[in-house]
Parts: sequence; C-alpha cells; structure tokens
Amino acid sequence: MGRSKFLAPVRTGTSRRTFLSRSGSAAAALASAVALPLAPGVTQAAGPLFQHGVASGDPLADRVILWTRITPQSPRRTAGFRWLVARDPGLRDVVQRGDGETSVERDFTVKVDAVGLSPGSTYYYRFFAENEASPIGRTRTLPVGATSRLRIAVASCSNYVAGLFNAYRRIAERADLDFVLHLGDYTYDHGAVDGGRVPEPSGETITLSDYRTRHAQYKRDADLQEMHRQHPMICIWDDGEIANDAWRDGALNHTEGAEGTWPERVAMALKAYYEWMPVRMVDPTQPRRNERAFHIGDLVDLLMLEERLSARSRQLPATIPIPGFIVPGFVQAGPFADPSRTMLGAEQEAWLAAQLRDSAARWKVIGQQVMFAQLKALGAPLALGGGVFINPDQWDGYQPARDRVYAVLKGDATHAPVGDVVILTGDLHSSFAADLTQDPDNPVVAAGGYDPATGNGSRAVEFVATSITSPFLVPDPTGAIAALLRSRNPHIKFIDLNQHGYMLLDLTRERAVCEWWFVDTVVAPSSVQTLGAAFEVQHGSNRLAPSAMTAARMNPPPPAP
Ligand SMILES: [Fe+2]
Repeated sequence: MGRSKFLAPVRTGTSRRTFLSRSGSAAAALASAVALPLAPGVTQAAGPLFQHGVASGDPLADRVILWTRITPQSPRRTAGFRWLVARDPGLRDVVQRGDGETSVERDFTVKVDAVGLSPGSTYYYRFFAENEASPIGRTRTLPVGATSRLRIAVASCSNYVAGLFNAYRRIAERADLDFVLHLGDYTYDHGAVDGGRVPEPSGETITLSDYRTRHAQYKRDADLQEMHRQHPMICIWDDGEIANDAWRDGALNHTEGAEGTWPERVAMALKAYYEWMPVRMVDPTQPRRNERAFHIGDLVDLLMLEERLSARSRQLPATIPIPGFIVPGFVQAGPFADPSRTMLGAEQEAWLAAQLRDSAARWKVIGQQVMFAQLKALGAPLALGGGVFINPDQWDGYQPARDRVYAVLKGDATHAPVGDVVILTGDLHSSFAADLTQDPDNPVVAAGGYDPATGNGSRAVEFVATSITSPFLVPDPTGAIAALLRSRNPHIKFIDLNQHGYMLLDLTRERAVCEWWFVDTVVAPSSVQTLGAAFEVQHGSNRLAPSAMTAARMNPPPPAP
C-alpha cells in the first residue's frame, strides 16, 4: 500500500485519548527503564567515510550479516576495509576479524557474513577504512535449544518524505530486543509530496542510480542509523522498495516502456536493495526469491514470506460502490474465485506448508507483507457469498490461495493441525489485531464458523503493525471509520487508523504478547511514545485475548557506546 494518494496529512486522532492516558504511566516507566546512556566522552557521529552508519541483519545461531558503506573522498573504483567483532562494547575481547575490498560495482557497500559466533550472544562490531573507524554497532545471534523468551520490535512503512523517524529512535532505545523485524516499505519509490521531507532523487526511482540514491538518503537519517546500530534486523521488501502495488509482472506505479521494462526495473531495485540492506541472499541466481526460515531455539520458527515478485498474480479491480466507504469493494466471485491466482506461488506455498507442518518450535511466527485476515465492508457467511471485501491488494484478493494456507492449519487425513501460529503484517499504515478464521460471519462453529464472543473457530492470530511514518488512506480523527470496520468484522478485535509507531512482540512458552507503541508526532522531533494497546494469545488457544499490559522485560545487554 501506499504512495501519493495516501499521503494527505494525518492528524493524531483523539478517539483513543482516554485509553491512552490510562496507559501513559506504564509507558513512562518502561521508557525510563530502558534509556540508553552513551559512554562518557564517546561520540558515535559517523565520519565522512562511514556517513551511512553500520547495520547488521539476518542473524543465525553462528553468524550475522554486518553492513556498512564506504563513501570515497576522492575518485576511485575500489576501497579496502577491515572489520572486527568483539564480545564487549570496548572491543577488547575480539572474536573475529577480517578485511576486504568493495568497489564502485556494488556502490561501495560492504557486507560481511561474520561466522563462528556463539548462539544467543550479544556482540559489538566496527569497520575501519583509511584512517577512519565506523560507529560501533551491536548485534545478537539467535539462540539454540531450550529458549524461554524472545522479544522483538516489528516495523513497516517508513516513508522518508512522510515524516521523521521518531519511532525508529524509540526502537533504538529499547535495550531488550533480540532483533527488529521490518515487514517492508523500508524505502518508497515515489518523488516529492507537498509539505514532506525532500526525497533524493526528487522524482520516482526507476534506474539503478535512482534506487541507490534513495537508499543512501534513508541510511543517512540519524534515527534510522541508530536503530540499525543498536539491533540486528530481519526484513523483507514490500512494494515500496520497487514500485507501488507490485506483482510478479508489473506494478500499478510502473509504466512499461516509458519506465523501462519491468524485469529490468525489478533487477535494478533489487540490486540496490541487496547492496544497501543487511540481508543474506537466498539464491543469487534468483534474486526475487526471499522466503527464509529463522529457527530461534525451541521457542520460535520465524517464517519470512515473499509476496510481491516471486509469483503474485495481478491485483483484480474493486468495482462495487460501498455506501459509507470511500473505496469500492468486490465479492468472491468470478476471477476472485479463480484458484489459479496466487500470492506465493506453488513452490513457496509448498515450502510454507512443510515449514509449518515440520516445525518443532512452540510458536510458528510468519512475517509477511499484506493483511491475511478478512477485511469486509459488508459481512456475510461464505455460504451466502462471503460479503463485500475492500482491498484487492491483500489476501482477500487471493482467497483460494488463502484457503490453501488454512488447509494446512486445519490439517487433514495425513497431516496434524498446526497451532500456535502468529502472523505479523505491515503494509496498511494502521494497526489491527485479528482472530484468523475462514468464515467469520458464520456463527455456527461446528460448520466451520466463528464465535466472536469466545473466539471459537479461530485457527491463528494476526497482528498488523502500523507505519513508522506513512499515513493511512484517510484520516480517522473521531475513530468512526475504525468503529465501522470493527462492526463489520467481528474477528478483528482492535483497529487504529491514525497512529504511527511499531509493535513489540514478546514470546514465552506460555503466551505471545503484542503491544502497539505509538509516537505522538512524525512532523517534529519528539521522544514521546505511548502504549496504545496490547493483546495476547495463550499457547494452544489460537485466539486473541486482551493482555494485562504487563510490559515484562528481559535483562538487557549493554548498549553500543
Ligand atoms: Fe507502505
């Protein structure tokens, strides 16, 4: 989701003021508890060679990707560098070191897969080039074996022109995270908008140079840099990194011919992405593939899906006017019922099914781009047509493909049901918590329906992270639109269409708790954040419950100085 048509200024809503003020004291207590001191006398301002900061990502139990970019101070085609990894923030207990060379062919970006590390451990790293040292970054490997807890921040939709990255700074300040999960729209493809920060380049990104310039601008943002410096990231692109509303063979925001060919544009966008992001390629011969599994001890299997470029069928148009809504809708008939239309493609679907069925972890967490839960303007049981859906760019537009995922969750004659599944989503620039059920408007649970009072009939849960900055389709200052959507979607327990921020997901063997943390503004620097809502799912229940908002904490490791 998301470009100029969604970029109208959004005022922070007032509908949740009473609720937010109740939780304000808890927010203040947590914020003060995790404040990160800088070591006295140490500055982390990046020098000219390392002006894009440092980052780490795709942690495994024994390795992690370390990233930086060298900005040559004189014309050249190559640049040498050294790097090291240590157990302590003072970099005295060095466990790995190496050197290498980058070049103009990769835009002087540097990526090291630092191996030989210990599981479940915090490390500190630094790069050196010429006579300059980079800022010191902190990272962390994944645990193995018995694992009691995982705590991550979940982000999406960080549009530079739409506002300041205050939410990234808040994530950076949390010392208790294992990693940051970014679900896409890390960068955006479009040009300037009225009143927004000025993008580089000024227009839409089309060429390799455009995409590199856009990534470079984002990486110079101080708040984004600090988030990367403090935490490893696991990420997947959505459409913004390439072109808005992308699918396998095109995009709404792509004009074939005038903007080159689609395959060429995708190749340029992904070349810049792999250069500038701290990620490990799944298959260098197939850069569009990006499905990955991260095994986090015996607690979580994190399954990352690619839903734009591998196989997704073209979005179908929504053409039914819906009274009370400003968008048209569609029903699950005609082409919308075509089982050959796909979100993941047969290969990735089979991979996902195998990962879910074979997982021995307590939780199966799916990180993906577009909303999985049904989002209806008018509800009706499937037997009566299912009702009227709103957004053909999410799983609603691919219902037969979604049914195939439900079939895996439900099990069959040869496969046991798969429970304890949590789906994490970005894309919508708004916050949702939903029970996942195939037929939410059918009250007969025994017939595959759903009881909104008890959650019976729910197979899994979904948490949708709001945006770091990107505005929702329309402002909802009174909460009326959210209330209307709630009334039409009994399986959705929480909706906020106004606030920006991130989710905090805390998993133990007993429960998964999701908290929505909202910043107070994206138009001015601010350190204010507020706990806006919290829901949890108990092991074995596969349905939402309001959380006690306990904001439980781990013992944080020292921050990077
Ligand atoms: Fe977005």
